[in-house]
Parts: sequence; C-alpha cells; structure tokens
Amino acid sequence: MNRIRHFSHDSEELTIVWEDASQSQLQAIWLRDHCQMPASRNPDNGQRLLNITDIPQDPCIDRVSLEDGRLVIEFRPDGHRSEFDPDWLYENCYSLNQQHDDRSEINKILWSGDSFQQGLPRYAYDVFCAQRGSRRAALQAVSDYGFVLLDAVPCEDGQVLKVIEQFGYVRETNYGPFFEVRTKVEPNNLAYTNLGLGCHLDNPYRDPVPGLQLLHCLESSTAGGESILQDGFMAARILRDEDPQHFAMLSQHWINFRFRDDAADLRSRVPFIETNDLGAVIKVRFNNRSIDTINLPPAVIRPFYAAYRHYAEILEREELQTVFKLQPGELMLFDNTRILHARKAYSAAGSRHLQGAYSDLDGLYSSLRTLETAS
Ligand code: OGA
Ligand code: ZN
Repeated sequence: MNRIRHFSHDSEELTIVWEDASQSQLQAIWLRDHCQMPASRNPDNGQRLLNITDIPQDPCIDRVSLEDGRLVIEFRPDGHRSEFDPDWLYENCYSLNQQHDDRSEINKILWSGDSFQQGLPRYAYDVFCAQRGSRRAALQAVSDYGFVLLDAVPCEDGQVLKVIEQFGYVRETNYGPFFEVRTKVEPNNLAYTNLGLGCHLDNPYRDPVPGLQLLHCLESSTAGGESILQDGFMAARILRDEDPQHFAMLSQHWINFRFRDDAADLRSRVPFIETNDLGAVIKVRFNNRSIDTINLPPAVIRPFYAAYRHYAEILEREELQTVFKLQPGELMLFDNTRILHARKAYSAAGSRHLQGAYSDLDGLYSSLRTLETAS
C-alpha cells in the first residue's frame, strides 16, 4: 500500500510525494495516455483501447483530487476524467522505476571460470518437473548465469523436446525439431565430426537467433569431448574495460553470417556485440565457422580487425572458461545470446551422442515470471 503524503500540480505536471519520501513527477500527456478507466483499457485484459491519435495532442491537467483513496485527474481540453490507484502510479511511475529489462548485462550475474567453486547450477530433472520451486530456481539460474545443468534426464530419443515443454516452445530450424550431434559421414556442419569446436554461439546466421540451446548427452564413452562454457557478457565487459574503442567498433559495425548446405542458405547481418538504448550489452555473437565475407567500409577494415582479434583473444582466455564433461543423462540449457560453448576433440574409439534443440528466451522468461507470481 503506497500512501500519498502530498500532491500538487500545474497544467503540465503532477508531483506526488509518497510516504516513503520518494517523489513522482508525472507529465500530463503520460497520465492521459496511461488512463486505466474502462473507456481507455479493456477491464478483462488491461489492453489499451485508445490509439495515441485518439487523445488530444497537448492535454493539460485541470484538477486533481483524492476521492476514496484514488487520485482523480481531470484533463483539458476534452474534460476527460481518470481515476488512478496510487499503488499503480507508484509501481509504474517512470521517475521511480527502471524500465523493464530482463536481458541486458545490467540484470545478470557475470561470471568467469573460478566463479563456481561451490559447483555449477544444477538441478535433478525429476524434481525440476515435479516442483515449481525447483523449476523456478533453475530458470532463474538461466536468467542470472545464462545456463543450468539438468541431471538424470531420461536417455530417450527426442527427450530434449520434452524438456523444452516444461518451460517454453520448440524453435524448429532447418536442422529439424531437434538434431543429432555425433560423428557423421560427409557432415554438413563441423559439429558432426570428432574435431574440437572453438567457443561459439549457435546459428548467428539465423535472424532472429534462437535464444536458447539445449544439449542432452545420451552417450559418452570416448576420450575427450569435454564441454566448455563461458560468459560472453563478461567477455564483452572485459573488452569494453580494456579498450572502449574496440567495444564500440564491434557494437556499431555489423557483419555477415551465413550457413549453406544443399537445402538451406541462411544469412544475417548483425553485430558481434549488440547493445540496447542505454549502451548495455543485450546479445553477443561469435562463430568462427559461419562468419561470412566481412564487408565493411574500407576505412573500417583495419580498426575492425584489431577489435575483432582483441575480442577473439579474450574469448580464448582459459580463466574465463568452465570445463566439464557431460555424462549420459546430463543436459545443459543455455542462453544462446550470451553463453559461448565449445567442445574439445574426442577420440574415434567409443561413442559420443548428444541431441540438441533450440527454444526462445521469451517463453522461458514468461514461465519464470508466471512461476514468480504464483509462489
Ligand atoms: C553444437 C555444438 C557441442 C558438442 O552442436 O552446436 O556446439 O559438445 N556441439 O558436441
Ligand atoms: Zn554449438
């Protein structure tokens, strides 16, 4: 319950001093546009009924009063009357609250190789399915650290899709609803060989890029084949700290990524480091296998390469990496806009078989918020 200690207004702005001494300064046009009355918002779903062009261009605040605990505002020139619940104003006030942001580096816990001395974020799959609290904690780990491990996921064909059903929707691609990661004859992707794979994010050539990736280990009897994860937001922060111009180069210049085989030709033009309106990192991309011809203005080529090399060198720093070997039944779920993954080469003897699939981040965040509200 947020109580109003005092309010005042002129024609352009309403000022509220709250009991906790914080202050809201709300302009007339914003108040008019955010009217919560049934004529402005559908009472069943809260969705806006009015278009911005339906309201006067320069509304003014005429009168403000407190009636039965609600703040009543009358506007000129159309005489419109809005009633606001003070709690709603407090929670939505733009001078008190940060904008919604569940993706950028600002709301993440950035990590490096020694951050998980107590163990990696890891949950038992049966508990994850059965208990909302466990599911919430696991999804929160994806939000905070960018990844989570699930243990004892049944080693059944296509199980990775059932895991996705627990929190979101499958993002089907040209690789199918899910894909097999094992050595293949004439592979269309180096992932399907026993070679090591350098740190990368999947599918930067897809627009939009799949926000989540799952890799489920079904068999692992080869020597080698360890998995490596690293925090791309941490790498981007280090780049910005070490050389802000290099950071600017990689966030302001876009490059081409491409994947081609007999059935697909996927292309994107996107930056290595994507920032939001506040300059905070929201997505990183890196995939040596699928960087297409680099096509930039002539004057940018040399400084771009200096920045690109610097970034790639940071991504090779072992102190940023966490290394572990996936065992049969283990599954890693990670944010494919943030976490780079890699694999060490493995022996030809024995067998290694993973099944992978993609999903999108919006579904996971939606589930997380729903779980938070319910508990
Ligand atoms: C992939 C991949 C890693 C592995 O298929 O995208 O990176 O451990 N595989 O085989
Ligand atoms: Zn990959």
